[in-house]
Amino acid sequence: MQFSTKTLLALLPYFIQANAGASGSGTTTRYWDCCKPSCAWPGKANLAAGSNPVQMCDINNNPISDPNASSGCGGGTAYQCSNESPWAVNDNLAYGYAAVNIEGGSEASWCCACYELTFTSGPVAGKKMIVQATNTGGDLAGNQFDLSIPGGGVGIFNGCTNEWGAPAGGWGAQYGGISSRSSCDSFPAALKDGCYWRYDWFMGADNPTIDFQQVACPAALTANTGCARADDSSLPAAAAALAAPVSSSPAAASPSSYVAPSPVASSPAASSPAAPSPST
Ligand SMILES: *[C@@H]1O[C@H](CO)[C@@H](O)[C@H](O)[C@H]1NC(C)=O
Repeated sequence: MQFSTKTLLALLPYFIQANAGASGSGTTTRYWDCCKPSCAWPGKANLAAGSNPVQMCDINNNPISDPNASSGCGGGTAYQCSNESPWAVNDNLAYGYAAVNIEGGSEASWCCACYELTFTSGPVAGKKMIVQATNTGGDLAGNQFDLSIPGGGVGIFNGCTNEWGAPAGGWGAQYGGISSRSSCDSFPAALKDGCYWRYDWFMGADNPTIDFQQVACPAALTANTGCARADDSSLPAAAAALAAPVSSSPAAASPSSYVAPSPVASSPAASSPAAPSPST
């Protein structure tokens, strides 16, 4: 069948409405700096009605409601909430958060957007992780996802010494963080599960490469951040998320917050995240 140019032009708005989102290949790194995430500031992106910038917490890991509270990494009172940690949904799917930089975009295009990552190297090759962008970084290259993993290294800024009494340069190396699972044993209770995740579900992977595709945010991710974009509902849901049972987030400072409409009909009663299983 052939369409005239006129017909194609008439159809164009419909193609544009079916938002394809950002996609491509990229890299990952990891960090946990305890600082107020950049997407926690007001005005970064066009958000859904009833939604707020990324939730942040005070020095005791309790939610702060003033979006203008300045970062504990700059003398202020706001820190990263512990529930912005990764967790396993099943053996092949994890949820979490990341500081991102998408080529050709800006915070206006990625703050609070969700991306389905398919790992393409290392021990996790083939596994998928859906992350919500909560932050960015001046040192991130294009299509880089800096995964928020407790103990992943503080990077440029360190709020972890103030907030949790971490060693002066953060836990482990400034870039990369701790280097063994047992180092998580002495972490604050609120950060332990996220720390162990790196050695369990993530199999100690070290900056694996990825293919990524922007997707509608799973409700379990927006429930922790309270942040959903206005354009989120125009994106396709991640196939991996539809196939997986709905998972609850780690129990942590969880404000009563915005829950995005989810394509999953009902969610089972909240259950704790899977207990860490020994690495093989
Ligand atoms: C945050 O600060 C901006 C700029 O000063 C101001 O316009 C806005 O009303 C403040 N928001 C709140 C919730 O106080």
